[in-house]
Amino acid sequence: MAERRVPRMFYDYVESGSWTERTLRCNVDDLQRLKFKQRVAVDFENRSIKSTVLGTDVAMPVALAPTGTTGMIHADGEILAARAAAQFGVPFTLSTMSICSIEDVAEHTSHPFWFQLYVMRDRDFMRNLIGRAKRAQCSALVVTLDLQIMGQRHKDIKNGLSVPIKPSAANVLNLLSKPHWCLGMSRTSRRAFGNVVGHVKGIDGIASLAAWAAEQFDPTLTWHDLEWIKESWGGKLIVKGIMDADDARRAVECGADAIIVSNHGGRQLDGAPSSIAVLPHIVKAVGADVEVWLDGGMRSGQDVLRALALGAKCTFIGRAFLYGLGAGGEAGVRRTLDIIANELSATMAFCGRTRMCDVDRSMLINPQIFDELHEVY
Ligand code: GLV
Repeated sequence: MAERRVPRMFYDYVESGSWTERTLRCNVDDLQRLKFKQRVAVDFENRSIKSTVLGTDVAMPVALAPTGTTGMIHADGEILAARAAAQFGVPFTLSTMSICSIEDVAEHTSHPFWFQLYVMRDRDFMRNLIGRAKRAQCSALVVTLDLQIMGQRHKDIKNGLSVPIKPSAANVLNLLSKPHWCLGMSRTSRRAFGNVVGHVKGIDGIASLAAWAAEQFDPTLTWHDLEWIKESWGGKLIVKGIMDADDARRAVECGADAIIVSNHGGRQLDGAPSSIAVLPHIVKAVGADVEVWLDGGMRSGQDVLRALALGAKCTFIGRAFLYGLGAGGEAGVRRTLDIIANELSATMAFCGRTRMCDVDRSMLINPQIFDELHEVY
């Protein structure tokens, strides 16, 4: 449904991985390689998928990942997704590059959300974002470390998806063939990067925004930046984009409360292993000190359970909830969460487990399949 309803250029933006898309496919395929052990004659009537993340109760250990331009998948997309997540009882993460601003999401939702931050050259703007996230009472800051340059996504180039958008005749025709999307967009005023426009000096239109965005992601980023972010933020800090045990240890030294093992959904370093393949290694390195979470390739409750069995305390879905959003707005995200929750609960039952704290490697037939990769680390 999302593919039918969302204009091609935005749908492709969600679908894309970088270059050959091998890492994107690997994220999905490696999860499927993990096989469950079926168990029978276990009383699972009163099973529960409830859990905690960073000390907070959640309806299931799944969070909505920070995804850029979500408000282009569906009008007011970030507000709708945040509401669906709050209603369901799972965390929502707002991207720096969202369409709805921090204040807008805070005003139109009643539950605290997490804010995701990129390290930008304009440190004043970063301080400003951190202050705004504090004032909006965001309950954690997610710092993404793996997008200081962009992986090349061929479909985005082909579709002319850049800031500003380069509309071709084909794009315009495609937009016009999506009446549901066009109607939504015509009814909202949220059509630009809400966290940036009006908050950076000199950004008053799409051309100045384009020039600013192109040179903002700071290639000089080092761990010292993470230290000052931790200090300025003062609250819970989640570090996203970790694929290496030494980096995981360094993030913990800088004050991370949780780590997200992530290759950015296969959108950055093409040729990196899947995130699930490196998860056990990172859990071994820092799992006693911080919560280790996973994103990349999860499209079902079965996938969520595979990640939890290999040691993730929480999982992030990106594309999976964007499909729901594109298909049906807030109700669509809610439906995505329902589907995943039902799959998770049923799969636990088939595996003879009744509580999240009993989920571990022993429910998999082949939990060791990624060990060989770890030896080379
Ligand atoms: C941004 O985070 C992207 O992957 O496009």
